[in-house]
Amino acid sequence: MLCVRAPGRVNLIGEHTDYNDGYVLPVAISLETRVYAQPRTDALCQIYSETLDEQHTLDLAALPPPEGLPSGFIRYVAGVAAMLQQHSGRTLTGVDATLCSQLPLGAGLSSSAALEAAFAVLWNTLDDLRLDRWTLAQLCQQAEHHYAGVRCGLMDQAASLLCHAGHALFLDTRTQATQHIPFPPDWAIVVADTGKPRALAESEYNLRRAQCEQAVVALQAVLGESVVALRDVSPEQGALYLPLVDEPARRRARHVISENARVLAFLTALRHADKAQVRALMLASHASLRDDYEVSCAELDTMVEACLQAGAISARMTGAGFGGACVALVERAQLERFLADSERLYRARAAYEPRFYACDAVDGAGVCPM
Ligand code: GLA
Repeated sequence: MLCVRAPGRVNLIGEHTDYNDGYVLPVAISLETRVYAQPRTDALCQIYSETLDEQHTLDLAALPPPEGLPSGFIRYVAGVAAMLQQHSGRTLTGVDATLCSQLPLGAGLSSSAALEAAFAVLWNTLDDLRLDRWTLAQLCQQAEHHYAGVRCGLMDQAASLLCHAGHALFLDTRTQATQHIPFPPDWAIVVADTGKPRALAESEYNLRRAQCEQAVVALQAVLGESVVALRDVSPEQGALYLPLVDEPARRRARHVISENARVLAFLTALRHADKAQVRALMLASHASLRDDYEVSCAELDTMVEACLQAGAISARMTGAGFGGACVALVERAQLERFLADSERLYRARAAYEPRFYACDAVDGAGVCPM
């Protein structure tokens, strides 16, 4: 029997930048998915989700295409198996597996990336594939593109596979350079789930991505082919040339360009535990996601307000948006009062059932000692 764990993530800053070759700063959180697997002697998989009370069978020797599978968790598992098989040229080992997850679905905490990472580590171990964490993250991302139809960036899979306990992961999605940035030990990370499930997330997400690509094409006309992605446009160039880009691509690009600059400034602020700077940058990120990228919603805005009023150092929406959760940074000494006050304030103003999770920054996915 093998047990693998893979964490969800919250992104501290750098939202909707990862598919623009930009910067992100996620933290792997202490809410995770576990897979308990018994290898078989054939290529069949019987996979039971305890969380959903659903059982599915997959034949790794004859994997169906995504359209041939019911939507839901089994598509992600099949996608990971398909990508690993394609990459390694081998048929993987079948398993009888049970999975259970502490990650709320639809809260924007990357429950799907955690599921992918857990199965990637499982087969990497069982079949001795010897793939490094980067390759695994990229194959999980491909699984999501081809089997779930979301053209996501690399942040979620990288966070679930590469993070270190006590640190945030600074990732340059173009060069794939990483730095593990120590997280101030006397600050707590609170995930504040609005209870509003993400709506339209997939179609709107793909649309935002297409609008960023439109902006790149328009900017190339003035800045030349050296602009490959919005990452290549500085805030100064943005101020000069964005007026030439049509709306809404103009505002989408303005968000991405300014957000990349905020991530870089945030690294210094976090290293110095500079509360005022951390607050200013996270609030500017939220405002830009709300006004320019248009991926927030009334509940996310209300939750940020509630968290600030309850004494958070800062707060902002996290993940793709359109519902889901906020991340709040809170001084540990004030955590209990914060949790009570923010919940009361949010409930008074919103119709959804909120959930608050005080999380630690944990290590990326791995095999659990049994
Ligand atoms: C989702 C995607 C990520 C990233 C975020 C927004 O979580 O899976 O790749 O684009 O949205 O920052």
